[in-house]
Amino acid sequence: MIRTKPLDGAFGVEVEGVNLRDIREPESARALLKIFHEHKVIRLRNQDLSFDDFDRVTKAFGDQRPHFLDHLRLRGHPAILMLSNVFEDGRPLGVYEGAAFWHTDVAYEDPPNSSTIVYALEKPAGGCPTEFMDCVAAYDDLPQAMKEKIDDLKVVHHYGNRWDMDENSPTSAERLTEDQKKRVSNVIMPLVRRHHVNGRKALYGCAGSSFGIVGWPEDEAIALLDELAHHCIQDKYHSQIDYEIGDVAAWDTFQTLHKAQVQKPATDQTDRRVLWRVSVTGKPPIYREETPAAA
Ligand SMILES: [Fe+2]
Repeated sequence: MIRTKPLDGAFGVEVEGVNLRDIREPESARALLKIFHEHKVIRLRNQDLSFDDFDRVTKAFGDQRPHFLDHLRLRGHPAILMLSNVFEDGRPLGVYEGAAFWHTDVAYEDPPNSSTIVYALEKPAGGCPTEFMDCVAAYDDLPQAMKEKIDDLKVVHHYGNRWDMDENSPTSAERLTEDQKKRVSNVIMPLVRRHHVNGRKALYGCAGSSFGIVGWPEDEAIALLDELAHHCIQDKYHSQIDYEIGDVAAWDTFQTLHKAQVQKPATDQTDRRVLWRVSVTGKPPIYREETPAAA
């Protein structure tokens, strides 16, 4: 029987009573997805998944999309992006520095990512949590006049962290290869996104990759985006997951902001951080005929 208990923080739940190896086809994830969309962030402990198990589970959340950072994908499995503090021959095994700032996964591509799912394979001795902010609650708490001002605004996104564009900084976005730099382009996203499954409105992508507002002078656009981002980043909207080995976690990118921690390179076997990450686009397959389109 599925049970939930709150995460350490303002929102999100730990889900008990689910062995993800039993997710054999998308329909078998229906109860889990209902909890996921309601609570925005979920954690399932003590999962023992093969690559094929994890691959199958993530497909229940949406369409897998290989990450733009193609040099950090798991070799032979392009849908999996490695997150790691392990270096081999001087090169990181996965995303090492590049997520330690408030952001929305792949809001800089159209369609954007709708969910991200991770599986913790190795844990560093000191831990390395992911932090989350509830952008539905943050929107709900805005004054009505602000909601009316922003509801129809369109935001310009591209790869990067607008608060730190120094590619040598640990709190900037992951450093790009020369080929990847040539492929960065602008995309337009709503500032207020109505969720594609539950219809709730959320502040979308107001930190990280948002760099302007369509039709607005740059200084005014940045001032508003900063105001909204700082509004989202408050203790009352905050939760976090400090992964244990065997954890699977998922976050709804349409309803949250998140960030990783600045980490240190692994120095021995007890200090290694290795997670598989898959991001998906679109609705879960089980909802495709049932729910209203995204705003
Ligand atoms: Fe991320």
